[in-house]
Amino acid sequence: MKLGARALGLALLLIFTLCNISVSQAQSSATGSPAVARGKYLVEQVAQCGDCHTPHNDKGEPINSQSLRGASLIFKPIAPMPVWADKAPNIAGLRGWEEADAIKFFMTGIAYNDLPARPPMPQYRLSKEDATAVVAYLKSLSPAAKSAGEGK
Ligand code: HEC
Repeated sequence: MKLGARALGLALLLIFTLCNISVSQAQSSATGSPAVARGKYLVEQVAQCGDCHTPHNDKGEPINSQSLRGASLIFKPIAPMPVWADKAPNIAGLRGWEEADAIKFFMTGIAYNDLPARPPMPQYRLSKEDATAVVAYLKSLSPAAKSAGEGK
């Protein structure tokens, strides 16, 4: 009887531990979250942020292993513009951006310093939901370029 109770206790402990492991695994795999998946779709398929933020090779093709890791733009305005940024920064990981500031930036086009980014960075007017998803996706990325094998 005593042994039975102890075995039951151990079994319960084991079940409890296993449940906790699977919960923490689910939480840590950020790529599985719907917001991150939505953000990836918006960044890659809709807004195509990589046109400017991903470096391109000599043939004008994006270098996928360096996706969103920052680039010198491959185009210039035909007419001179007083304000123009010719480099698009590394936005993988969104270093230096508080989540709330970044969400506001993609909803209004206004950055944490109360100024818009210079053109040609578009002033996006995303919904709060979409801005939150874009930020969740960018924050889920490592700022470092991927190694060659991982490319895509
Ligand atoms: C047409 C080119 C272009 C496109 C498309 C573009 N960007 Fe940019 N982005 C830029 C340039 C250039 C800058 C730098 C502006 C400056 O220095 O003032 C910039 C700046 C930024 C910044 C500020 C970075 C910092 O640390 O100051 C963020 C964040 C950003 N872009 C995110 C995005 C996201 C996300 C998308 C897609 C939803 C996107 N951009 C699409 C060109 C572009």
